[in-house]
Amino acid sequence: MGFRIEPLAAHGRAAFACGVPALDRYFREIVTQDIRRRVSNCFIALSAEGTVAAYYTLAATSLPITDLPAEDAVKLPRYPLLPAGLIGRLAVDDRFKGQGLGSALIVDAIGRVARADPAVFALVVDAKDEAAVRFYQHLGFQSFISHPMKLYLPVAAALKRLASQAQSLK
Ligand SMILES: CC(C)(COP(=O)(O)OP(=O)(O)OC[C@H]1O[C@@H](n2cnc3c(N)ncnc32)[C@H](O)[C@@H]1OP(=O)(O)O)[C@@H](O)C(=O)NCCC(=O)NCCS
Repeated sequence: MGFRIEPLAAHGRAAFACGVPALDRYFREIVTQDIRRRVSNCFIALSAEGTVAAYYTLAATSLPITDLPAEDAVKLPRYPLLPAGLIGRLAVDDRFKGQGLGSALIVDAIGRVARADPAVFALVVDAKDEAAVRFYQHLGFQSFISHPMKLYLPVAAALKRLASQAQSLK
């Protein structure tokens, strides 16, 4: 697609506009403080011209095992909390929507948590509205039992799906 994904550094953020003022403001004014305080990392998709086209934040979290359907929980050890990676925010600039960038950033996050030294069972997202829930469901995320707006995607299943997609492209 001509985009590359990398950690946010000294990239220009002032022009970023995804249509959700809270997500724009966070990216323009707050994200670097969160990175400095080690409460979140931020990764961006850069266009060939060097424009920030999309961003997401990634931090460690945990997923209560009671939020998984019983048929999934039964296959896991009875630890009350499972290790997870939190996508706190995800936004694509209006100029770049509908080109696969949102899903490319989720794939990037799966790769990063799969490569991390601490084990990560799943990615977790907080959807801000019903449209975001549908977007994440479309990518294979399932709602927590106790919070329909919180969703998770087991990393092992996501890697398997990506591997079979790569196989079918050969
Ligand atoms: C939601 C958002 C991240 C999607 O980004 P995007 O780059 O336009 O999405 P993609 O092009 O990667 O779409 C991937 C797939 O999801 C589908 N999709 C996108 N938005 C969807 C929605 N609201 N409901 C269902 N499916 C959706 C696309 O049709 C596409 O399907 P395909 O792979 O079968 O072609 C973007 O619209 C955005 O930044 N919205 C404002 C902020 C926001 O809502 N963030 C969500 C986290 S709170």
